[in-house]
Amino acid sequence: MPMQLSWDDYDTDTEETAGVIADLAVRDGAAPDAPAEPVNTGLDMALAVEPAVPEPPPFVAPPRPSVAAEASARAEAPAPVPEVVFEAPAEASPEAAPATAPELDLEDEASRERVTVDQKAMINCRADLNQLVPFKYDWAWQKYLDGCANHWMPQEINMTADIMLWKSEDGLTPDERKIVKRSLGFFSTADSLVANNLALAIYRLITNPECRQYILRQAFEEAIHTHAYQYCIESLGMDEGEIFNMYREVESVEAKAAWALRYTRALADPTFRTGTPENDRTLLENLIAYYCVLEGIFFYCGFTQILSMGRRNKMTGTSEQFQYILRDESMHVNFGIDVINQIKLENPHLWDEEMQGHAERMILEGTELEIRYAQDTMPRGVLGMNANMMAEYLRFIANRRLAQIGLTEHFPGVKNPFPWMSEIMDLKKEKNFFETRVTEYQTGGALSWD
Ligand SMILES: [Fe+2]
Ligand SMILES: [Fe+2]
Repeated sequence: MPMQLSWDDYDTDTEETAGVIADLAVRDGAAPDAPAEPVNTGLDMALAVEPAVPEPPPFVAPPRPSVAAEASARAEAPAPVPEVVFEAPAEASPEAAPATAPELDLEDEASRERVTVDQKAMINCRADLNQLVPFKYDWAWQKYLDGCANHWMPQEINMTADIMLWKSEDGLTPDERKIVKRSLGFFSTADSLVANNLALAIYRLITNPECRQYILRQAFEEAIHTHAYQYCIESLGMDEGEIFNMYREVESVEAKAAWALRYTRALADPTFRTGTPENDRTLLENLIAYYCVLEGIFFYCGFTQILSMGRRNKMTGTSEQFQYILRDESMHVNFGIDVINQIKLENPHLWDEEMQGHAERMILEGTELEIRYAQDTMPRGVLGMNANMMAEYLRFIANRRLAQIGLTEHFPGVKNPFPWMSEIMDLKKEKNFFETRVTEYQTGGALSWD
């Protein structure tokens, strides 16, 4: 019987947690190989034989206060914004003196100076943030241009075949229907969490105008993604209340949302300032949580499932929406990793052994939660895949995330059981500044992934 992690395990930063994760690694290493992937022949309607999969253990909810419980607790306090996302953080220290962004006073001679590249910095920059050029981070500006070149809108995608399939009695199996609902349930709110974190926390604390320019573009893309999910939900005539509340009501979805929310809290306090090692670390932690885990791991099971459905000529409109979203997300992750690595470069004191250990734990916790989500959404083999194969894929992705921020791979020898996913995005698109320059973004908004 595989060991279950509880939320208490996640919530401690002790050696005990590291032990749990180490135990998991041992367990994982001993796990039997997943069956070979059945035929995946693109959109040729080939029906693969579903692999026989041992019944995974039922998903066990982490024993922590639910998002709904937190929200109702907050409802008793006169909070100005009745949102799930934000609470007054304990960490915000009034002594964290330096303002995050410099105040602009045009009467002041010092404020009238022209900005030089040397004055620019990713965090705690004192130079005027209204001067976009000269660029210090060309890669950030290039990503902004690439993001704009990839513009798309959900209504451009034809959903007719999906509507017919979804409404027909025997169009999809119950397991396939569950996957569609779970995916829309998780993503429809997860992209809002990302957008809120970007607009209310990250934008304010990243003190570089070219990066802010990309963050604004990313924030708009997140709005388009939420729009796309809503467009699918509405087109298919789904119960909107059921789908949009899944992050409160379905344990495997809630566990992921709650994990991400935890890292937004401190930063969302309007009085939070960077400028002390402790608070700078809190920002770095948030960036790793959102870019490496939420966008870099939590999206992968659902995306793989929906894209696999499209490859079998099912829910092709929904699958196309997800492909466009995945192309955007791939760039978001690359941008975030570049920002993280740049902050490390400019502030090496933040990237000490403790922070590295913490970053690794976060990525491993996220991987474990995503594996639980895979087990919940795939109790049996479906769409030519199963939970064991997905677990292997997620460990492959985790290795990549660890390596991208300069940490050692945790799952040596893990192979990618879904090479077609890499063909779509991982290898071609997941190039970032610290590895190699991206050269193949296209100039139009249309998909061209061969
Ligand atoms: Fe998104
Ligand atoms: Fe994103």
